[in-house]
Amino acid sequence: MPTTQPIGIFDSGYGGLTVMKEILRKLPQYDYVYLGDNARAPYGNRSFETVYRYTLQCVEWFFEQGCPLVILACNTASAKALRTIQQNDLQRLNPDNRVLGVIRPTSEIIGKISTNKKIGILATKGTVNSASYSIEIEKFSPEVEVFQEACPIWVPLIENNEHNGPGADFFVQKHLHNILAKEPAIDVLLLACTHYPLLLDKIKTFLPDGIQVVAQGGIVAESLVDYLQRHPEIEQRCSQHGTRTFYTTDDVKDFDNQANIFFGEPLESKHLDIR
Ligand code: DGL
Repeated sequence: MPTTQPIGIFDSGYGGLTVMKEILRKLPQYDYVYLGDNARAPYGNRSFETVYRYTLQCVEWFFEQGCPLVILACNTASAKALRTIQQNDLQRLNPDNRVLGVIRPTSEIIGKISTNKKIGILATKGTVNSASYSIEIEKFSPEVEVFQEACPIWVPLIENNEHNGPGADFFVQKHLHNILAKEPAIDVLLLACTHYPLLLDKIKTFLPDGIQVVAQGGIVAESLVDYLQRHPEIEQRCSQHGTRTFYTTDDVKDFDNQANIFFGEPLESKHLDIR
């Protein structure tokens, strides 16, 4: 039997906890290590080189912990770092390990949900500028038209716990207005940033009827179930004791206080010094 180790889940900060929550619903039996690079977040407005360098450093750390599989539960890292890590670094680091992202599994199914074949992507500036969703959705649903809107203020609103307050209304309405001005017939809006599910209720109140708002946590979790079934060589290396360990590159007290909002239950993190 091969040695078994936890599955790694990575995010620039807290947002990946919304994805992890859904993964735990579907696959509670595995062990997980979560790392939030809060000290260097947000990644959303950073350059390709910076996001790639930070993400690679964190993937290397997961591999040092023995994780056979790392999920980049961050759209910005998936958009800007995943492909380069898979193509250039994995062979050197550990060719038997795997790094997966959130954009491909989401793109595989999002086109099928739209009746009008017009989809809106709400994301960080980095994800929008990478055009990753347009490129990936085209592969699976070439008949679908993709419209994008960067919402750079949404992450700070959520991280400062202002997302439920009236101050958030203006910026939520502004970006919804902008994307629907690009194409009024959009019938599916994808929350393509791991923070945005926290704005889901508010977003729905400002949208006309008939537009479906999709958060990606459930989609990513379902895709992981499928991946592990199709890849027994990886699945057999994932340990199953139901443990969860959380690391942050910033202050643990801040992380534990804030993480609750994203994870829906209290947790205790450990500090990782990475720079
Ligand atoms: N987690 C990031 C994403 O899904 C958003 C937060 C950030 O900008 O770092 O794109």
